[in-house]
Amino acid sequence: AQSRLLVKGGKVVNADRSFEADVFIENGVIVQVGKNLSIPGGTKVIDASGKLVMPGGIDTHTHMQLPFMGTQAIDDFYTGTKAAVAGGTTMIIDFVLDQKGVSLLEAYDKWRGWADPKVCCDYSFHVAVTWWSKQVADEMAELVKNRGINSFKMFMAYKDVFMLDDEDLYDVYKKCKEIGALAMMHAENGDVIAHEQKRMLDLGITGPEGHSMCRPEPVEAEATNRAIMIANTVNCPMYIVHVMSKSAANVIVQARKKGNVVFGEPIAASLGTDGSNYHHKCWRHAAGHVMGPPLRPDPTTPGYLMDLLANGDLDCTGTDNCTFNANQKALGKDNFAKIPNGVNGVEDRMSVIWEKGVHSGKMDENRFVEVTSATAAKIFNIYPQKGLIAPGSDADLIIWDPSATRTISAKTHHQAVDFNIFEGMTCHGVNVCTISRGKVVFEEGKFTVSAGDGKFVPRKPYSNYVYNRIKKRQETFDPKKVERDPYTGPVIQLGGANT
Ligand code: URP
Ligand code: ZN
Ligand code: ZN
Ligand code: ZN
Repeated sequence: AQSRLLVKGGKVVNADRSFEADVFIENGVIVQVGKNLSIPGGTKVIDASGKLVMPGGIDTHTHMQLPFMGTQAIDDFYTGTKAAVAGGTTMIIDFVLDQKGVSLLEAYDKWRGWADPKVCCDYSFHVAVTWWSKQVADEMAELVKNRGINSFKMFMAYKDVFMLDDEDLYDVYKKCKEIGALAMMHAENGDVIAHEQKRMLDLGITGPEGHSMCRPEPVEAEATNRAIMIANTVNCPMYIVHVMSKSAANVIVQARKKGNVVFGEPIAASLGTDGSNYHHKCWRHAAGHVMGPPLRPDPTTPGYLMDLLANGDLDCTGTDNCTFNANQKALGKDNFAKIPNGVNGVEDRMSVIWEKGVHSGKMDENRFVEVTSATAAKIFNIYPQKGLIAPGSDADLIIWDPSATRTISAKTHHQAVDFNIFEGMTCHGVNVCTISRGKVVFEEGKFTVSAGDGKFVPRKPYSNYVYNRIKKRQETFDPKKVERDPYTGPVIQLGGANT
């Protein structure tokens, strides 16, 4: 049976422009966008008059049901993606993240096994490289060739657990460059953190404030600079995940000025709240904000990151959604270093960015679509399948009421976690209807979605958006001055139809 839907009377907002138009959807795909469309009888009509019709959000960074720090993230692929669609996100990119020594292919299969039966919206994976060997190199190539992966995350922190040293990072970057994948980095100096954690504990500082004190801004900024330097040495495209501080963001801005190919991802948490929470008198409140890298004590940080996001110095947004309940956070009651790291965001990212970005006057609705959806689709090579309202694109869209408000609270959110870092924040901009693959999945506060309705979205290597930049960078190297062959040698083969 054909499934048809007409979204009528709204203002379509894409990254490049806004225009009044109806959107006609057939079998999960947008087939017509315009006025006075001729529509088959019996088509279900959704009234979007007075509202914005935008591409569904793409959350570039989540960790549903991640086994981590002696427990497992409480929002799984069901509750996490259900909350996502409530907030106006129609795709998440989660992380396959296993221990050192585990086969990347086995880890990938394990995560697919968790996600496929549970997801309520489309999803994809980045794969974390937490150890290095010939086997890992071959598995990376296999993941790119046959499993739809084009991005790998590495860690400069979590010593002895996920961390790679600079020597291994260099090799992983080379491999990423060779196979057409994007290298993503958790940029914090893990050796310094390990020593500082011990020093704080020896001083008797055991509370959540110790978490923030042992990993101050320079710990993030130094690693960000080192990550970019190593990537640039082999001309590998680089993506800095969870940009949390002004100084790390400044490192990215400066590197880009020099022509380095580096993208920056602030997250809902770093755009919406700050590190003053670590000094909250309530332990659970303080521990609820513990994540790595930490939120920053400088209260002007969120506004600064939003300015950079608005003007194009930072690119796209995730959440790092990785949630733990009170009893899980309590694993670190006597030792901040044992508080499971992670915060919420997957449900609230769109509203927080609308409030702090658009409602505050820093960005327009088109830039909003760019930073919440379109640019992620371009970087991760799923544009224009995702991130655009146009004939041929997946019918992932949201109907947004820019004048409505909602107050964020753990009492009313749809996530499984018992805490919300944005508690009490009133946001303009409310998602009133979510359409995923042409199906209404959330409308007026009610879900019409089942576990497993979402699909895995495979991604091809060599996103043109990324590789056009690498190619340009390559042209600026003077081969007589510096021997960079083969990594900056022949221009890499471009693929895909994306721009
Ligand atoms: O605290 C965080 N960020 N938890 C999730 C793992 C990571 O580093 O992204
Ligand atoms: Zn990380
Ligand atoms: Zn409290
Ligand atoms: Zn993360």
